[in-house]
Amino acid sequence: MSEASFVFGEKPITIESGDGVGLTGSRGKEYLDVGASYACAPLGHAHPAVTEAIREQAARLTYVQGSYPVRARTDLYDRLSALAPGDASKVWLCNSGTEANEAAIKFARHATGRSKVVSTMQAFHGRTMGSLACTWKDEYKEGYGPLAGDVEFVPYGDAAELAGAVDEETAAVILEPIQGEGGVNPAPEGYLADAREITEAAGAAMILDEIQTGIGRTGDLWACESEGVVPDVLTAAKGIANGLPMGATLVREWIAENPGNHGSTFSGGPVPCAAANATLETVVEEDLPGHAREVGAFFRAELEALAEETNAIRDVRGRGLMVGVEVKRGANAILRDLAIEHGVLALPAGRTVVRFLPPLTVEEADCERVVEALGKAL
Ligand SMILES: Cc1ncc(COP(=O)(O)O)c(C=O)c1O
Repeated sequence: MSEASFVFGEKPITIESGDGVGLTGSRGKEYLDVGASYACAPLGHAHPAVTEAIREQAARLTYVQGSYPVRARTDLYDRLSALAPGDASKVWLCNSGTEANEAAIKFARHATGRSKVVSTMQAFHGRTMGSLACTWKDEYKEGYGPLAGDVEFVPYGDAAELAGAVDEETAAVILEPIQGEGGVNPAPEGYLADAREITEAAGAAMILDEIQTGIGRTGDLWACESEGVVPDVLTAAKGIANGLPMGATLVREWIAENPGNHGSTFSGGPVPCAAANATLETVVEEDLPGHAREVGAFFRAELEALAEETNAIRDVRGRGLMVGVEVKRGANAILRDLAIEHGVLALPAGRTVVRFLPPLTVEEADCERVVEALGKAL
């Protein structure tokens, strides 16, 4: 650990290398990374196709200013456009989730000429001023104000409350299809479709934040596909380039034709684009959403069996390989025990939820190991 950093909460484990779902610590200890390092390694660590794409691109051209088209970026525009839900197929690239949402809010405000944004309680959309304003938890906001204003919060999953908040001044509604940080809370059936109708009727943009749910994690390439909902704006990031910084804001034509003047120096750098092309190609060719659906169902069934056995689990929820286990005592102590005693690296989602976002390549045997370790930790 370094004394030179501040703010960031480091863990007492130094990681030297990774391979698939596994990570190796500095003293040779092996870990199972079933948080996929904040969901940034959907193909697992050091995936050969991504490593090779990075190596090849870096050797040829690491960066050129964005005003000159380069092959890796053009290919990624085309690939994302083809994979986009419905006609939300115009692409803007950036470097992180918060930036993708920041752009989404700016584009929606510009295209509608309105300012109000409706977000939801327990939502997490990022930590820059606009995204942070749409994030629920005060802890992340204290002392940083004033944030970008005109944001109203409604209870997640309640279509009537949403309808009551959206009016002719609303530029956008921003939603996660399954709230991640907020506790792994799946939207009730029909909620996204209701939100689609409500926003359409008011002339407001529907922004779906698929930064955690996207790229196959929930069993579909995009979580909104399971409800047949096409948003006006979809944001993606985290695992899109399997660990390199990359975010994307996908928009419908009515937004793309009136986006204002937005940009970023590193928007679509060739190396992250090459990594994203290799990642998306692998996700599609190997049908990793299908794998996530199957292994996720197995994993949740095993966790539910554990819940019956131990009486220490309040709820098992999620979809595909986005899984939350609500425990009856603090999640942090369990996560520490899982990591230090059992070599299993998972994530918190609030105080009482242990969150699993494993690489989409995870196998049933890995899940069995995790469930066994969780049983011991509980
Ligand atoms: C749903 C969601 N939106 C936005 C973000 C912010 O992404 P980033 O940390 O890349 O800025 C996150 C990160 O956890 C997230 O889970």
